[in-house]
Amino acid sequence: MNNNVIYKIIGILCVVLLAASCKHHEEEYHSITDKIEAESKDYHGISISSEEHLEGLTMIEVTENGITFRIPKRKGEIKSYACTECHNKPLDQMQSKDLKKAHWNIKLNHADENTMNCITCHDGNDMDHLKSLTLKTIDFDRSYQVCSQCHTRQFTDWTGGAHGKRIESWAPPRASMTCVNCHDPHKPHFESKWPERYNTQKVEERK
Ligand code: HEC
Ligand code: HEC
Ligand code: HEC
Ligand code: HEC
Repeated sequence: MNNNVIYKIIGILCVVLLAASCKHHEEEYHSITDKIEAESKDYHGISISSEEHLEGLTMIEVTENGITFRIPKRKGEIKSYACTECHNKPLDQMQSKDLKKAHWNIKLNHADENTMNCITCHDGNDMDHLKSLTLKTIDFDRSYQVCSQCHTRQFTDWTGGAHGKRIESWAPPRASMTCVNCHDPHKPHFESKWPERYNTQKVEERK
């Protein structure tokens, strides 16, 4: 064999090897979705779950508008619960003009007073529970059912996950904050926040 032939053979071998190595990659991933599919093969069968993040939180499961999710329990968070420790007789027998108001720290700043007073939401005859406008008993852990009577739009958004906030993680099971986690039922409005002003005075001075 002369040198020319040897060079040709080496040349051909190189081309074949190069082609083979390129082909290898191209076959594995025809597209980015193929690549994702292939590389996530090992994860199939392992279910990703928020369960471990939710450990230690006391939650209840609710189903509203056909959607089931969890919300935090409230009763353990309410300082003056159980109310019946004091509210063991009808309200009018407890109210006195001379004494300082028992709940002096609660000032209603929600709807106007023709629309709403304490007894719109609280049950004067059973203070350990809330009540609906049609006098249905509502548990403190499900106080969103009080809010949903008047705020139907926010309620529907909330059940779908568009209003409010999820707890911990996106993975199932879904756990969401409930209305009173963010809004004080007695004064639910948030003050508007304004961005810091652009300081035109300083800019003037630096010129
Ligand atoms: C430490 C005792 C005590 C506890 C606990 C307590 N209350 Fe009262 N509450 C009173 C007294 C006394 C009155 C009546 C006199 C007054 O208005 O000051 C009253 C009045 C009220 C009123 C009527 C207020 C008004 O202005 O007409 C509401 C509503 C009420 N309580 C809700 C609750 C709820 C809900 C709980 C539990 C989450 C609770 N209370 C727990 C002592 C208590
Ligand atoms: C719009 C409905 C609504 C109205 C009106 C309302 N409350 Fe409440 N109130 C609630 C809800 C819901 C809770 C429980 C909040 C939570 O889970 O933290 C609550 C909690 C309370 C508590 C327990 C607070 C604590 O942390 O111990 C007291 C006391 C109370 N309300 C008294 C009153 C009094 C007095 C009025 C009238 C001045 C009133 N509420 C008006 C819905 C209402
Ligand atoms: C009986 C009807 C009624 C109930 C029950 C009720 N609300 Fe309201 N709420 C109103 C009205 C009326 C207003 C004042 C008008 C408005 O801004 O929509 C208001 C105002 C608000 C606002 C302030 C809106 C703003 O201006 O920023 C929030 C937030 C709110 N409510 C949350 C709640 C929550 C949370 C609950 C349950 C604990 C609740 N509401 C229960 C009728 C109700
Ligand atoms: C994770 C916190 C969070 C939860 C949970 C939440 N809200 Fe809100 N809500 C907000 C914020 C933030 C705003 C916007 C306030 C603003 O723009 O000034 C708001 C606004 C509102 C308003 C005023 C109108 C509007 O849409 O801007 C109402 C009424 C209201 N929420 C009711 C509810 C009710 C009812 C629930 C429960 C079903 C609920 N919210 C649950 C944070 C929350």
